[in-house]
Amino acid sequence: MTKARAAVFASGTGSNFQSIIDEPELACDIALLICDQPGAPVIEKATSANIPTFVFHSNDYPSKEAYEQEIIEQLRACNVAWIFLAGYMRIIGKTLLSTYEGKIINIHPSLLPAFPGIDAIGQAIRAQVKVTGVTVHYVDEGIDTGPIIAQETVNILQDDTLISLQKRIQAVEHQLYPQVINQIIQKYKGA
Ligand code: GRF
Repeated sequence: MTKARAAVFASGTGSNFQSIIDEPELACDIALLICDQPGAPVIEKATSANIPTFVFHSNDYPSKEAYEQEIIEQLRACNVAWIFLAGYMRIIGKTLLSTYEGKIINIHPSLLPAFPGIDAIGQAIRAQVKVTGVTVHYVDEGIDTGPIIAQETVNILQDDTLISLQKRIQAVEHQLYPQVINQIIQKYKGA
């Protein structure tokens, strides 16, 4: 049976993108990287892995709807059924959400609903909580508000810095995301 095809959306470093494509048992083919930051390191990671990329600059389009429409054309051309956000620093708009309803998933570096939005790791440190973590969730129209699929905790140590905590959170992300992607795709196939 042919595997489902998916796209990863990322804006930056792409360590999660790398962990997804490096998963030997991945239940889908990563057919495309979508990136909104020309020059982002994730693009080089895709190119090295021979994964096609669509890189765009939002300023080149009159509206969010216009660039999302172009993204949809790229996704359709690659037969993409699933979208995995991995550090994509844009809010998904109605155009994409309605076309890929229930098929867009995100990973966020906190135990949602705590610390949504940007700098979730810094927010947790400043709030002086002892436990934070990672959440994988469906994407809806809000910021990190969609239904939660999986969570894993990470303890905050007394001498943690942003960097040391981020390192442990990302280690969890790199295990959790490919695992959850596989579970969702298997579940969907069995439904
Ligand atoms: C990750 O921490 C992810 O949870 C958040 O953005 C970060 C992306 O990191 N949404 P990377 O580009 O995958 O290294």
